[in-house]
Amino acid sequence: MEMLEIMKQRHSVRQYTDTAIEPQKRTALNNLIEEINGEMGLHIQIFYDEPKCFDSMMAHYGKFTGVKNYIALVGKKSPKLDEILGYYGEKLVLKAQEFGLNSCWVAMTHGRSKADVRKGEKQICLIALGYGVTQGVAHKNKPLQEVCNHTANMPEWFLNGMEAALLAPTAMNQQKFFFELLPDSKINADCGKGFYTKLDFGIVKYHFEIGAGRKL
Ligand SMILES: Cc1cc2nc3c(=O)[nH]c(=O)nc-3n(C[C@H](O)[C@H](O)[C@H](O)COP(=O)(O)O)c2cc1C
Repeated sequence: MEMLEIMKQRHSVRQYTDTAIEPQKRTALNNLIEEINGEMGLHIQIFYDEPKCFDSMMAHYGKFTGVKNYIALVGKKSPKLDEILGYYGEKLVLKAQEFGLNSCWVAMTHGRSKADVRKGEKQICLIALGYGVTQGVAHKNKPLQEVCNHTANMPEWFLNGMEAALLAPTAMNQQKFFFELLPDSKINADCGKGFYTKLDFGIVKYHFEIGAGRKL
């Protein structure tokens, strides 16, 4: 299936059924994580059949039920860590969606993860994973003029990139990013101000690049 279709199908899902993730899907996700960790020097970890992390007050407060699988986004502390984990975390989310698995980025409303966080490393966010009770619903979007320097006759590739960017999950659906297309076709992209905007920016960047068909 086309990647844009997969992005359109993805919505945050917070309630999960008891269906376990199949062995082949686990192997594929494990391999992708290993590949990303090797290439980027990250320490992303995935846990299956582990219900404790989302069996906390915070998780219930956040309306999460039945979460038994999650990805812990961990890496060495650096100013770029949030953005990098956003980018590769969303790569994993869309791969999971391709496998028919639902997900939700969770920065706040989770309990203690089983992740091995070593000296100098930081756990930035979790991603809940599994078979959803529902497929979720589409989020509200800001108008194009609020997320880019929108004018008439913009190139198709840029508009496709922005369409994909608007499909990206952001914390509290804040969509604080802004993309400026410059006359020389270069792009000035900004994450905006607020909580988790750098993490959001990595996620949005991954979407934009797929939509636009070019690297930022
Ligand atoms: C970085 C990040 C952190 C998030 N943290 C939480 C969270 O702690 N609890 C929660 O219920 N949802 C969380 N979300 C999910 C967002 O609320 C959700 O992605 C947003 O409302 C857009 O909806 P959608 O994912 O269905 O498109 C988070 C999303 C992102 C990208």
